[in-house]
Amino acid sequence: MKFSKLLFGLITCTLSAAPLSVLAQQPIVIKFSHVVAHDTPKGLAAEFFAKRAGELTKGKAKVEVYANSTLYKDKEEMEALQLGAVQMLAPSLAKFGPLGVKEFELFDLPYIFDNYAELHKVTQGPLGQSLLKKLEPKGVTGLAFWDNGFKSFSANTPIKVPGDLKGKKLRIQSSKVLEEEIRALSALPQVMAFSEVYQALQTGVVDGTENPISNLYTQKMFEVQKHLALTEHGYLGYAVIVNKKFWEGLPADVRGQLEVAMKESTVYANKIAKEQNDKDLEAVKKTGKTQVYVPTAEEKQAFKKVLAPVHVKMESRIGKDLLQAVYKETGFDPNKL
Ligand code: LMR
Repeated sequence: MKFSKLLFGLITCTLSAAPLSVLAQQPIVIKFSHVVAHDTPKGLAAEFFAKRAGELTKGKAKVEVYANSTLYKDKEEMEALQLGAVQMLAPSLAKFGPLGVKEFELFDLPYIFDNYAELHKVTQGPLGQSLLKKLEPKGVTGLAFWDNGFKSFSANTPIKVPGDLKGKKLRIQSSKVLEEEIRALSALPQVMAFSEVYQALQTGVVDGTENPISNLYTQKMFEVQKHLALTEHGYLGYAVIVNKKFWEGLPADVRGQLEVAMKESTVYANKIAKEQNDKDLEAVKKTGKTQVYVPTAEEKQAFKKVLAPVHVKMESRIGKDLLQAVYKETGFDPNKL
């Protein structure tokens, strides 16, 4: 991360964390940085939270949302949060491995959730809470899980069956489970920051990628990907996280009001996620630049068959007991893929 950027963040953070008696009239500033566009499930939910936080705290807290990697990129934002240069983030669950919390990669396992209802049994239940607790030793407090949606593969050549991705360089997020997923397809995984994907696709540094449609559309990847197959082979969602020291240092009344704002924002985020993705799929089709293919049941089954071994391979990384608990909660059976 650029030193000047970090320094700026730390100075503003120090100011905003100055003794509250001294700055009685000053709002507590919460910088909320994220990497996607404003008109995405995460972008809209972040703004909803900012609005409700202002209202519920009666202006005592001011949430500033920085979208589209304008403040920090993927890797930088985690470091900045731990250092206290930014107070709030909502990274994808696939990005917690580098922080040392590998368990979150369970959400990247192929076809582990068939739909949002199954997923919510985990994210909105006790298992989700126990996962958020794993962040505490890293100086991070997990507040909520927000949805995006189910990922599909895109490239410049048609994709119908797994073999169509063979040998392709595919951009992924920083998750070992995703790396294994791409290898299972005999393709080449390329970890890359989200902010760099459009250019990498445009210049041919990578051939394709996987995304929920809202990300593909709002980053204009449809301009540089001729084919999209609705494989829906994995989930992408977020954990909303804050710097633990900052959060615990907030006046109790303000923290309580922010918790209410976060609860409301979570309901909102998880309500709009599917709507946004459905809307953006229609928008992609309308551009006429990307051909959208719906795999047949047999073709989808072929993807499931090729990707099923990823569950077994990644079991020790994620933890057998945790994985079994998730399977039990959702009724998922990897042997039936
Ligand atoms: C990605 O890097 O593809 C996603 O994590 C971006 C996001 O935050 O949805």
